Amino acid sequence: MTRPVLMGLGCYLALFAAMLGQNTAYQPDPDWRAPEEAASKPNPLANRPAAAAGGKKLFLRNCAECHGEDGSGILKKHSADLHLPVVQEQKDGVLYWKITNGNPDRGMPSFSKLPELERWQLVLFLRTLKPADKQP
Ligand code: HEC
Repeated sequence: MTRPVLMGLGCYLALFAAMLGQNTAYQPDPDWRAPEEAASKPNPLANRPAAAAGGKKLFLRNCAECHGEDGSGILKKHSADLHLPVVQEQKDGVLYWKITNGNPDRGMPSFSKLPELERWQLVLFLRTLKPADKQP
């Protein structure tokens, strides 16, 4: 497909998503960057996929009010669509650091009050979300 056609398609998709209230146009804040040391931390629960179920409960309790129950973001809250490749491409350590520290200036609170393992459980759950363009 040619570039203009693709761009046109992108606009339609964004418009459709906006009607659903999702935030598919979300772009991460370039100034919100995890230090290298935090970014390279592996998820200690990586080989415990069953822990993602607990992560989902934590997500519904702490995160769904802004990111939606399915994690696709809420346009009005400017929250991230967590299915997007721009989010999923980031390392576990980076997502953990972002959940821990938040980006209060742009509306994402810090969750440093949650126990460390619960934060890693949340990261595990985020990995179960499919990229938006792969949804049926
Ligand atoms: C009060 C609303 C609110 C709550 C509650 C909230 N978030 Fe967010 N979240 C946001 C907003 C707004 C952004 C976008 C921040 C930005 O633009 O930099 C965001 C961004 C993120 C990002 C980063 C995307 C990126 O830019 O890389 C992740 C990951 C995330 N949230 C996960 C969570 C998780 C997990 C929880 C629950 C523990 C949670 N959020 C709870 C509002 C919220």
